[in-house]
Amino acid sequence: MSEIVRFGVSLEKTLLEKFDKLIHNRKYTNRSEALRDLIRQELFKKEWMNDREVAGAVTFVYNHHIRELANRIMDVQHDNQKMIISTQHIHLDHENCLEIVAVRGKAKDVEKVADLLKSVKGVKYGTLSMTCIKEEGA
Ligand code: NI
Repeated sequence: MSEIVRFGVSLEKTLLEKFDKLIHNRKYTNRSEALRDLIRQELFKKEWMNDREVAGAVTFVYNHHIRELANRIMDVQHDNQKMIISTQHIHLDHENCLEIVAVRGKAKDVEKVADLLKSVKGVKYGTLSMTCIKEEGA
């Protein structure tokens, strides 16, 4: 067994309360055990998906009044047009736009495009959901 290392984690009180609730519901005996499982799951998911063909959606909200923001988002999409199969733009209110970008490609490449879009300065909360297109071994 590899050496055990302790490290400190800082997070908002409300988030920790939610985490403790999750731990309780899933019958974990302590936070370390729950955290270990979550990390393993996340790492496993990444390794398993990496080279697989996936389809997914990047969803994010941004304020179109912020200068050049819409253009920067558009640039990222043009630069990655081979992977982007469709974009839906919804005007949520006077200033906020919701964009749903459908993507397709290898999981690791799709993740890169999602990270590029989510990290454009001014883009509010963004998510990526993806699913494998082919069954394993197919
Ligand atoms: Ni709009």
